[in-house]
Amino acid sequence: MWQSTNVIARIDWNERLFSLRLAAKIPFEAGQFIKLSLPSEDRRLARAYSLVNSPTADFSEILAMEVADGQLSPRLHHLNVGDALDISTSATGFLTLSELPAQGEHLWLLATGTGVGPFISILQSSQVWQRFTQVVLVYGVRQVSDLAYREQIAQIAAARPNFHFVSAISRQADETSYPGRITTALETGELEKRVGLSLSPTQSQIMLCGNPEMIKQCNDLLTERGFSKNLRRAPGQITTEKYW
Ligand SMILES: Cc1cc2nc3c(=O)[nH]c(=O)nc-3n(C[C@H](O)[C@H](O)[C@H](O)COP(=O)(O)OP(=O)(O)OC[C@H]3O[C@@H](n4cnc5c(N)ncnc54)[C@H](O)[C@@H]3O)c2cc1C
Ligand SMILES: NC(=O)c1ccc[n+]([C@@H]2O[C@H](COP(=O)([O-])OP(=O)(O)OC[C@H]3O[C@@H](n4cnc5c(N)ncnc54)[C@H](OP(=O)(O)O)[C@@H]3O)[C@@H](O)[C@H]2O)c1
Repeated sequence: MWQSTNVIARIDWNERLFSLRLAAKIPFEAGQFIKLSLPSEDRRLARAYSLVNSPTADFSEILAMEVADGQLSPRLHHLNVGDALDISTSATGFLTLSELPAQGEHLWLLATGTGVGPFISILQSSQVWQRFTQVVLVYGVRQVSDLAYREQIAQIAAARPNFHFVSAISRQADETSYPGRITTALETGELEKRVGLSLSPTQSQIMLCGNPEMIKQCNDLLTERGFSKNLRRAPGQITTEKYW
């Protein structure tokens, strides 16, 4: 089911990375995604986008990257304030706190690129701070200008002493970030060292979002250390959402 909505604001983080704020308010749990579509010629072209906003906000916001030669994202990138588009009337997805088992008091959120979006939403929910004693956000991008929502992340860090943030920049030197991929930081133990917490199957829940290869490699590394996928029929510690 679709409803028509309008762009009420946009942020351009760099020449490819952007956020669109839409007038429609869709009921959802932090971490879920909606579908967007543009009124098009014949067949409807729809794509999934995670909601970045808090579920209590009276708008819907997405973070997106224009994929070169992509079918929908370049057209979304061209939208201006006031332009119309269609949004699904409901949200869905399992990258949510309610899908996590009760075990584990530390939450690790690992994202590449636009995969940080659902975690920004989760970090704005009160549940995450009630449920976990320590919360870690690890955000891997190519260059510093690909880091979106830096101000919001800094505000959370200032307000929450039990929040830990590590940025990983793979293609540019940046003295405040880990120099390389999340997977390397994980494999070498440098990630835990920077955060000051150890990953353990009894203590940690891990959510992964973004690039499917990153998710696969993190899964493999964590499986070697005794972690398992979190499935409804077999609760574990690794909950994932692949963007492609
Ligand atoms: C559950 C889910 C949630 C998603 N949430 C988001 C989101 O919040 N923000 C977002 O930008 N995208 C998100 N995506 C991806 C999004 O649905 C589209 O696939 C993306 O915008 C490209 O669409 P397109 O029609 O332009 O490209 P297509 O013509 O469909 O080309 C797809 C190709 O683009 C690349 N690609 C797709 N998504 C990304 C991405 N996010 N970053 C880098 N490369 C990508 C991959 O190589 C993929 O094979 C999500 C996907 C899923 C399945
Ligand atoms: N961001 C840009 O400036 C840029 C420029 C041109 C085109 N694009 C296009 O935009 C799209 C999205 O780019 P993006 O930068 O948002 O997403 P991305 O390519 O997924 O990169 C985001 C981060 O994930 C890392 N990564 C990639 N594969 C990984 C793996 N297997 N394990 C661990 N980490 C991994 C990247 O490291 P690496 O840097 O080591 O790959 C980077 O740090 C791509 O389709 C790309 O072709 C982006």
